Amino acid sequence: MTLPRTPLLAAATAVAALATLSATAVQAQAQGPLKVGLMLPYTGTYAALGNAIENGFKQYVAEQGGKLGGREIAYFKVDDESDPSKATDNVNKLIKRDNVDVIVGTVHSGVALAMARAVKESKTMLIVPNAGADAITGPLCAPNIIRSSFSNWQPGYATGVIAAQKGYKKAMTITWNYAAGAETVKGFTEAFEKGGGKVVKDLNLPFPNVEFQALLTEIAAQKPDVVFAFFAGGGAVKFVKDYDAAGLKKSIPLMGSGFLTDGTLEAQGAAAQGLITSLHYADGIDTPRNKAFRTTYAVTYKSQPDVYAVQGYDAAQILGAGLKAVKGDFAKRDAMVAAIGKMTVDSPRGKYGLSAAHNPVQDFYVREVKGPENMMTGIAVKVLPDPARGCKM
Ligand code: PHB
Repeated sequence: MTLPRTPLLAAATAVAALATLSATAVQAQAQGPLKVGLMLPYTGTYAALGNAIENGFKQYVAEQGGKLGGREIAYFKVDDESDPSKATDNVNKLIKRDNVDVIVGTVHSGVALAMARAVKESKTMLIVPNAGADAITGPLCAPNIIRSSFSNWQPGYATGVIAAQKGYKKAMTITWNYAAGAETVKGFTEAFEKGGGKVVKDLNLPFPNVEFQALLTEIAAQKPDVVFAFFAGGGAVKFVKDYDAAGLKKSIPLMGSGFLTDGTLEAQGAAAQGLITSLHYADGIDTPRNKAFRTTYAVTYKSQPDVYAVQGYDAAQILGAGLKAVKGDFAKRDAMVAAIGKMTVDSPRGKYGLSAAHNPVQDFYVREVKGPENMMTGIAVKVLPDPARGCKM
């Protein structure tokens, strides 16, 4: 490029350049970058989940030319370690120290509950890209809190529907003893018992322990028709392998919400083959939208995407739609939230809208592990809304 030689020419060049920018872009540029805090687990049993969410979020931003609603994005990162005891301090790093506009996080329900309480007070916008804690779109619901994932009740309920349809009568459940485990099991029990089954025993252990042997011995002794499990990340890898190694997989079918086999298949190997789960995503969803998402992800990150990547991708899409509606002017929060409430999220999982409590109203698929994928084999429940018990907005 040749440089303008006189001040007059320089001014004329600048005016011409400005004229070619749209009014939106000018406005958005004047506001500087939007500050996005990523509060996710980058260490511990959920580390891979946190990374996938960040990758998905950044993939969507990259597809929009690196901007959302015309705004550049500046990222601030905190590793929450999936540790609820550090959650309030961690979220305050983003709210008070970094003064971010939006927080995207997190994976662990216990950590997310502390985050929701903090942003209810500070009014910081929070987009939850995984944690299913029912209260977040229940009693803690708020205009500034939006979820791009699910409520714990949803995948539990959908899996209970399938287990009952299969004719199982007697189930045992096993999970970590915290909000996600307890609420997922509750959803499973509700649907399974409505369908004629009975949950005879709930087993659990503290998060993130993986000493499953004593509990597996109890399952072997009780011989239920089916076992329902909620585990995810590194813990899910170990559980599925231990269940198989204990010789249980052949005699007592293992089912779970789809987190049991999502993002974990390579590490689980043969132990996961044939497992049936339910989730709002499946690798093999045969749509151009999902195929394009998967191809770009695989090329960019040299790994296969999973449900967590989809939820991160959708978090960016939701934020982008809100910002676009106000031409990047984040101060117009009410208008942003109203636009988000009305939007259709064009997700790799399929299109969905948000409930009044800001939780996805979405289909739950039946999935079966075949080779390296959670293949979609049917629909467990079409358009399943979260009951949003206790939400008043
Ligand atoms: C949760 O704590 O809410 C949670 C964690 C991991 C999952 C799903 C839910 O895969």
